[in-house]
Amino acid sequence: MKPTIRLRTSVQLFSLFTLFCSSILFAQDVQLDFDYFKNEVQPIFLSKREGNVRCIQCHTRSSGFRIQPLEDHQLFWTDEQSRMNFDSAASFSLAGEDPLRSRFLTHPLAYDAGGDPFHGGGKHFDSQFDPEWRIMADWVAGAKTRREPSRVAVRIIQTNAAGDDSTIIDPETNQVVGHISDIEIPHGVVGAPDGSQIYITNEVMHSLDIVDARTLRVKRRIPLSGRPNNLGVTSDGSKVYVAIMEMPGSVDIIDVASMTNVKTLPVNGAIHNVYVTPDSRYAVAGSIQTRTINVIDTSTDELVWELEMSSGIRPMTFDTNADGSTKNIFVQLSGFHGFAVVDFASRKEGCACRAPCGAGRGGAS
Ligand code: HEC
Repeated sequence: MKPTIRLRTSVQLFSLFTLFCSSILFAQDVQLDFDYFKNEVQPIFLSKREGNVRCIQCHTRSSGFRIQPLEDHQLFWTDEQSRMNFDSAASFSLAGEDPLRSRFLTHPLAYDAGGDPFHGGGKHFDSQFDPEWRIMADWVAGAKTRREPSRVAVRIIQTNAAGDDSTIIDPETNQVVGHISDIEIPHGVVGAPDGSQIYITNEVMHSLDIVDARTLRVKRRIPLSGRPNNLGVTSDGSKVYVAIMEMPGSVDIIDVASMTNVKTLPVNGAIHNVYVTPDSRYAVAGSIQTRTINVIDTSTDELVWELEMSSGIRPMTFDTNADGSTKNIFVQLSGFHGFAVVDFASRKEGCACRAPCGAGRGGAS
C-alpha cells in the first residue's frame, strides 16, 4: 500500500508540450503586444539558465536596455513596471522584421546561431530553436498569444524535496528526460489538464510556481499565505487549490487565467493534502493536526462540510457514482495500517480496511 500512496502524492502523470511549430510571419504594420510581453517574455528576464546570470541581475543598471528592479519579496513586476520594461525592450526591437535585425534578439543569441559577436552579459541561447528565444522572437514578430503545441507527450514528474529541482521521466523508456530547476524544496506537483504548464509548490519562497512546459522554466511565482504542501487542479484547468501547512489552517485558491491568488479560505487545521474530486465539484483538504477532512464547494469556494476522524488525515482518493459524482473518499490515517472509507453523500465514516500484518507503517505522505 505504501509505495502506491506515495506515488499518488509526489509524482503526477500528465501531458507535456514538447515540440512547437515554428514559422515566423513577416508583416508590415506589426504591433508589439503588451500582454504577451508581460506574461510570456518577462519571465525570461527572471529565469536562471545554467552558466548564465539572470538578465535582471545586470539590466537594472547595465546598458540602455533597462529592466525595472523588484523590491524585496516582490515576485513579479506591476503593470506600470512592465510597461517600462516593454518600452525599453521595444526600443531594441524591429517589429515584424527579420528577427536577426533586432538587437533584443541578437545580443543574447550565440554568434554561430545568427547572433551578433558580443554581449556583455554573455550568450544565453545556443540556437534559434531555443524555446525561450522563440518566445522573444514571436513577440518581435507580433504574437499576441502563445503558440499551439504541435505535439503532446506523457511524462512523470518527481519533485525532489531535498533538492532544488524536479525530475521529468518518460514512462515509455523509464529514462530521465529533463529537469525543472530553480525551485528549492519543491513539494507538490500537478499539471494543467491541457499540458501547457506545470504547477509546483515552493516551500522556501512560499509560492505556487507556474512552470512553462515549453521551456521548463518558472514562468510566474504566485505568493501564498503560508508554507504550502500539496495541491489540486480543476479538470477545466481554471483553478488551483493549494494546501497551506500552517495552523489554524487554510487553502489558497489560484485563478489560473489571471495568475493570482484570489482567496485564502480558512479551514479546520493545517492542510497537508488537497484533492479536487473527479467531477471537479469539490476540493477536499485533509489535516493531520486536527484529524479533519474539509470539503470545499468549487462553485462558491466556501467550506461546505467537515468531518473529524479518529486520526490524522493522510492521502485520500475517490471513487464515483455512475453519473460521475463522488461516491466515497478513501482516507489514509496516521498510525493506521489501512484506510478508512467516508460515504460522500451521508458525510459519514463507513468501514475501515486494515492492511495485512507487515504491510508497513501507516501514514504515507
Ligand atoms: C552579466 C550581466 C548581463 C546579463 C546577465 C545580461 N546582460 Fe545584456 N548587457 C549587459 C551589458 C554590460 C551590456 C552592454 C554591452 C553590450 O552591448 O554588450 C548589455 C547589453 C544588452 C543589450 C543591448 C543594449 C544596448 O544599450 O545596446 C540588450 C538588448 C541586452 N543586453 C539584452 C539582454 C537580455 C535579453 C538578457 C537576458 C537573456 C541579458 N541582456 C542579460 C550585461 C548583461
